[in-house]
Amino acid sequence: MNRVKTGIKGLDTLVEGGFPKGRSVLVSGGCGTGKTILSMQYIYSGAKDFGEPGVYVTLDERPDLLREDCLRFGWDLAKLEDKNLMQIIDGSIAKLGIPSEEEFSLPVTGFDIDKLLLETMRIIKRIGAKRVVIDSIPALGFNFKDENEVRKAILKLSYMLMRSGVTSIMTSEVAEGDQRYGKYGVEEYVVDGVIVLHYMGVGTQSNRTLHVRKMRATNHSEDLHPLKIGKKGIEISKIEDEYNDV
Ligand SMILES: Nc1ncnc2c1ncn2[C@@H]1O[C@H](COP(=O)(O)OP(=O)(O)OP(=O)(O)O)[C@@H](O)[C@H]1O
Ligand SMILES: [Mg+2]
Repeated sequence: MNRVKTGIKGLDTLVEGGFPKGRSVLVSGGCGTGKTILSMQYIYSGAKDFGEPGVYVTLDERPDLLREDCLRFGWDLAKLEDKNLMQIIDGSIAKLGIPSEEEFSLPVTGFDIDKLLLETMRIIKRIGAKRVVIDSIPALGFNFKDENEVRKAILKLSYMLMRSGVTSIMTSEVAEGDQRYGKYGVEEYVVDGVIVLHYMGVGTQSNRTLHVRKMRATNHSEDLHPLKIGKKGIEISKIEDEYNDV
């Protein structure tokens, strides 16, 4: 099994060296748990450290704000975009019927999954992308009245990503304590891996944790691992390391 290094410090060793190549992983967690930062780090590091072009489909946040926030971690996305090492597809305001000023975006008239898929496939081919992020799945469901339609869309999306050979991350919001990992009850089954991020609130030293819930074809860690958002992005540590710090 070929592995794709995530570029997230401390994560690869938990999953036998990286994500299974050509598969998709769901990153699930409550609001502010670090799903977007982790996904962007996967794309940024893929492009910068491993020379693997990536496509970031943003359905929640505006690309200009993402670029700005990422500078805080020293990640200059625009520089990589100029070199076609990464591209951001803006689906964030198409949902609302407002035109985007981005180079790659969706038509304003009727946000639909097929247009999003076509645009994503086009950019994957154009830059020879090896990595893709869809942030987030619940935002895809925004314009659907029927949850079955959303489920169909998610299946279609994961099939298309698999066909294109990329290794992908999809994100999903779930409330802390929710037994499900996706909002529509299908996400966790169509993906090959599920990573859950938790935020325990205040009062403890390691209030953020990461847990590999499943990773097909992988002998993965089953522990809750402390997660830190530092100056260079996300870092995962082993529980022993955390004790050694004290
Ligand atoms: N520069 C930084 N240094 C330390 N922590 C940060 C920094 N920037 C953001 N954070 C933390 O990360 C959180 C945001 O992370 P992120 O946007 O990845 O979460 P998310 O899971 O995608 O949330 P949402 O569900 O709202 O999309 C912030 O609420 C803050 O706690
Ligand atoms: Mg987010």
